[in-house]
Amino acid sequence: MKILSVEFIRSCYDSEQFPRDRLPEVAFVGRSNVGKSSLINSFLHRKQVAKVSRTPGKTQAINFFRVKTTGPFPGGFYVVDLPGYGYAKVPKSVRAQWEPLIESYLTKRSELRGVLWLLDARGVMGNDLHTFEWLNSTGRRIVVVATKVDKLSRGEWNRSLRTVRESLGLPQAQGVIPYSSVTHEGREALWRAIREMERGHR
Ligand code: GTP
Ligand code: MG
Repeated sequence: MKILSVEFIRSCYDSEQFPRDRLPEVAFVGRSNVGKSSLINSFLHRKQVAKVSRTPGKTQAINFFRVKTTGPFPGGFYVVDLPGYGYAKVPKSVRAQWEPLIESYLTKRSELRGVLWLLDARGVMGNDLHTFEWLNSTGRRIVVVATKVDKLSRGEWNRSLRTVRESLGLPQAQGVIPYSSVTHEGREALWRAIREMERGHR
């Protein structure tokens, strides 16, 4: 599979700004700093199409990237980078604006084909479980991705992934994709998951 083009379209602060060309969309969700933007760059083979930062709360709008490949969604699709949640230092006034936007995007957007939910491979924390329950309640297809596995040894990540599966209560059939934006571990599996989202919707 080849990636033919990746194009940043725009940052949206309001649903009025969402693209209107009805291309399918795949969204990346997770707490602040979990590695959403890095993973988007990694799986799209781009260095810095999505902005990465050490400071949590970097992505504060819904960012749309139009992607064309020879693989899934041959007519093109949008990769959607959502702002991270759960970062206390983001001013309340800013959160008050974006949280309803994320929520309405995830519950209402008809172009949305699936959600990649990222959590740190080192374990479930804070309100992750709550978020996962809420995501499941939207009825969307959810794929769980454990990020930053390069920070763990193989033995550790197997153990950690098992714990993650158990705490989320995932059924046997539902996998967790281990991912590292440093080594690009998990890239193929992620593309397979996107392919499944395409198939699941026909
Ligand atoms: P927000 O936009 O704030 O929600 O954050 P984000 O989830 O988009 O995270 P981002 O990709 O900006 O990465 C946050 C920090 O984690 C950066 O310092 C990245 O370099 C680092 N990081 C991201 N992915 C990985 C990874 O796979 N391995 C390692 N070691 N570091 C990573
Ligand atoms: Mg980001």
